[in-house]
Amino acid sequence: MTDLSKKSFKTRAVHAGERLDVAGVNPVVSAVHPSVGYTFRDSNDLDAVLGNEKEGYVYSTRYANPTVTAFETAVADLEGAESAHAFSSGMAAIHMSLLAAGVQAGTSIVAAADVYGATYTLLQDVFTALGATVRFVDVLDLDAMSQTVAREKPAAILVETISNPLMKIADLPRLGEIAHANGALLLVDNTFCSPYLCNPIEFGADMVIHSATKSIAGHGDVMAGIVATRAALKEKSFALNKLIGSSIGPFEAWLALRGLKTLSLRMRQQCDNALALATWLQSHPKIKHVNYPFLPDHPQFKLLDSLTGGKGAGGVFSFEILGAGREQVFAFMDALDLIQPATSLGDIYSLVLYPAISSHRTLTPEERTSLGIGDGLVRISAGIEDVGDIQADIEHALEVV
Ligand SMILES: Cc1ncc(COP(=O)(O)O)c(C=O)c1O
Repeated sequence: MTDLSKKSFKTRAVHAGERLDVAGVNPVVSAVHPSVGYTFRDSNDLDAVLGNEKEGYVYSTRYANPTVTAFETAVADLEGAESAHAFSSGMAAIHMSLLAAGVQAGTSIVAAADVYGATYTLLQDVFTALGATVRFVDVLDLDAMSQTVAREKPAAILVETISNPLMKIADLPRLGEIAHANGALLLVDNTFCSPYLCNPIEFGADMVIHSATKSIAGHGDVMAGIVATRAALKEKSFALNKLIGSSIGPFEAWLALRGLKTLSLRMRQQCDNALALATWLQSHPKIKHVNYPFLPDHPQFKLLDSLTGGKGAGGVFSFEILGAGREQVFAFMDALDLIQPATSLGDIYSLVLYPAISSHRTLTPEERTSLGIGDGLVRISAGIEDVGDIQADIEHALEVV
């Protein structure tokens, strides 16, 4: 394995996880290992591996698989974590992180009120039904966060570095202090930043979660999740996943690992494109408001800047079309030609999404309104296309509204 210890992020993104020396074979690019089972020299050898006395592979991804190990090694490196654990989706990664953090009947979770819609429903419906208490708090209200955590003594606090679709920034250093002063673990969904923009462990996070379906894989052709964390917490989630089986497949792990190699290039282009588009839309007569935290007048610009080291805010921004409701937003989306109406983000393609019918569909209209997700709110994930072409597409579609 190439010594990456002193190399920059861009270099590590290209090489991390590769050439891990599986059975003495060292291809430049990790292979896909679809085999479910593994043979051994003799039964003593098998017994030693099954008994955890010796390292080795025994049974595929519900246990471990060399292609998945390569992907996990790479993400652990890029997040500055001791280890990482990959899953079949971002949702599986969130679910397993909460279980590994010790959430069970009788414990509680404090979560940011505007976490991704499916995360909200997972907490509200599934974890509550299993006997956990869930408290949602505005991530910007640190006093309320501190008071709720002190009162509830939760097993876990769950926030997103940049929230979806309102782009609120979690004050990770303060939240880390609040969590640890009260015996809680801080779980950070870092999907919007990707490891390129922010490494939450540096700021006090205990578990860093990604929907690798988004920027990490980056090409809209993989569903995957991954959690970067301490070795002891990975051991817990590893033991749980042997029973639950939310594993990533080796083909998906290989594609996600390949995606990482261009993460720096893609994120730089998406940050540039999103900033240019958000800046332009801010003074567009048909736009009421733009949410993009790298705009210098954004109230949390300084916090974001400190979390991302000035690298930007990623490719996602949202905006409210003046006086628009569902009908006008549909007309806007239908008039787009280049930007694809698809429910994802962080891809090389520019994507548009209407939160009211997609990411936040499972919420009631009252819940959406209380979060500030109005009927005229549109989210765009800028791809890596020419920014002039993306702008022209939006300009044309706004003309029909
Ligand atoms: C911030 C965030 N976290 C988690 C998820 C869930 O990821 P997945 O779709 O890979 O399960 C999403 C999906 O959009 C997301 O936006």
